[in-house]
Amino acid sequence: MASKMSAQAFLDMAKNRRTYYKLSSEIPISKERVQEIVNELMLHCPTPYNSQATRAVILFGDEHKKLWDIATEIMEPILAPKIGAEAVSARFNGFRDSAATVMFFIDTDAVKVMQETFAFIADKWPLWASQADGMMQYALWTALEAEGLGCNLQHYNPEVDDKVAAAFGIPAAWKLSAQLVLGGNPDPSELPEKTVVPLETRVKVLGA
Ligand SMILES: Cc1cc2nc3c(=O)[nH]c(=O)nc-3n(C[C@H](O)[C@H](O)[C@H](O)COP(=O)(O)O)c2cc1C
Repeated sequence: MASKMSAQAFLDMAKNRRTYYKLSSEIPISKERVQEIVNELMLHCPTPYNSQATRAVILFGDEHKKLWDIATEIMEPILAPKIGAEAVSARFNGFRDSAATVMFFIDTDAVKVMQETFAFIADKWPLWASQADGMMQYALWTALEAEGLGCNLQHYNPEVDDKVAAAFGIPAAWKLSAQLVLGGNPDPSELPEKTVVPLETRVKVLGA
């Protein structure tokens, strides 16, 4: 039976979650605790028909740095002409100097099984798998910031996919979807004011 709880703690955590780019390599919780949070959310985030196609790879220390070396090497020639070499190195050094990265993947084999099992809605599965993956990303981002870390969410897929798969032994069926960078000492003074599209244009209430 569901217990009676208030949403307030969750709303407070939701309000506390922001995008932080300047992060230190030291975090206020242990690596084991990070892993525990990832595990708990993997177990409890919903997935379509309980298909559980989301995958996560947690990179600490040199493995984290290796990811950002790979991403820098691949993205520098693509991004430098657009945003300038200095901006590129500031951005990627920021990721590398953070503490860790959680890479998210969708297991396309698990999606295929669902498409075969539920052939009459085969076309729905890729979108649903992506939505479930996004729920996991959001939950982890929010949970880690509730523990005093700062995070930012990156998408250097698909450019980095092949090198990442080779460097970290990622199964061929796992498709990279996002990279959540995490680190310590998030500084609220770096946060830009957020513009807000009026709620009236985004939420409709009928029959109240
Ligand atoms: C689906 C999604 C994709 C995003 N992709 C990126 C990204 O590739 N790089 C980045 O720096 N931030 C990315 N962000 C972060 C957003 O820019 C950020 O959440 C938004 O500007 C609101 O700011 P806040 O996170 O501080 O609330 C992404 C956010 C979402 C939800």
